[in-house]
Amino acid sequence: MPIIHRAEISDMPVVTAIYAHHVLHGTATFETEPPTLEEMSRRREEVTALGFPYLVAEESGEVLGYAYVRPFHARAAYCNTVESAIYIRHDSIRRGLGKLLMQELIQICQGLGLRQMIAVIGGSDNVASIRLHESLGFRVAGQLKSVGYKHHQWLDTVYLQLPLGPGDTTIPIRI
Ligand SMILES: CC(C)(COP(=O)(O)OP(=O)(O)OC[C@H]1O[C@@H](n2cnc3c(N)ncnc32)[C@H](O)[C@@H]1OP(=O)(O)O)[C@@H](O)C(=O)NCCC(=O)NCCS
Repeated sequence: MPIIHRAEISDMPVVTAIYAHHVLHGTATFETEPPTLEEMSRRREEVTALGFPYLVAEESGEVLGYAYVRPFHARAAYCNTVESAIYIRHDSIRRGLGKLLMQELIQICQGLGLRQMIAVIGGSDNVASIRLHESLGFRVAGQLKSVGYKHHQWLDTVYLQLPLGPGDTTIPIRI
């Protein structure tokens, strides 16, 4: 049975390797050079310093995927909105790990009083990610056409949005 827990610094080499594969071979991320372990650790630190979740899925002692949120935009009025990211090890997809990670991420973010979660998905043909997010209640909020170029193809960006907790029906805690 997989378990979901907060990423420790000791998990970051595996997280770095999981992401590197998607950077090099996929179009979900628009990065083209795999970040170093130091850079990935710095990004995790940035997320956790804000009190936001950075989670890993582990099975039989092996980290098989990770997910986190970061501020959607830096400007103050965006402070109730986070952007989510999720990556599963390429040989462990479609085993339910993505859904487990996202469910935990959403629950933690609701508990923090956050109000909107946005998934910014690279490639309108990224059916796996779009379906995963839709299965969790996210809805397509918009699409930008041909804003990326990677692996010899133009790529769209799809925005999916999930209201958290009371969403916009009450005044948020963070103002
Ligand atoms: C997108 C991704 C995170 C999905 O994770 P996963 O662990 O494979 O997904 P799960 O097994 O939990 O699937 C949950 C649901 O998502 C949908 N889904 C997942 N993969 C799918 C696919 N290839 N085609 C259609 N639906 C799919 C299904 O509804 C699935 O439920 P089901 O298996 O009961 O039908 C994974 O494929 C991945 O890491 N992709 C590359 C990186 C990426 O695209 N990240 C998201 C951008 S932020």
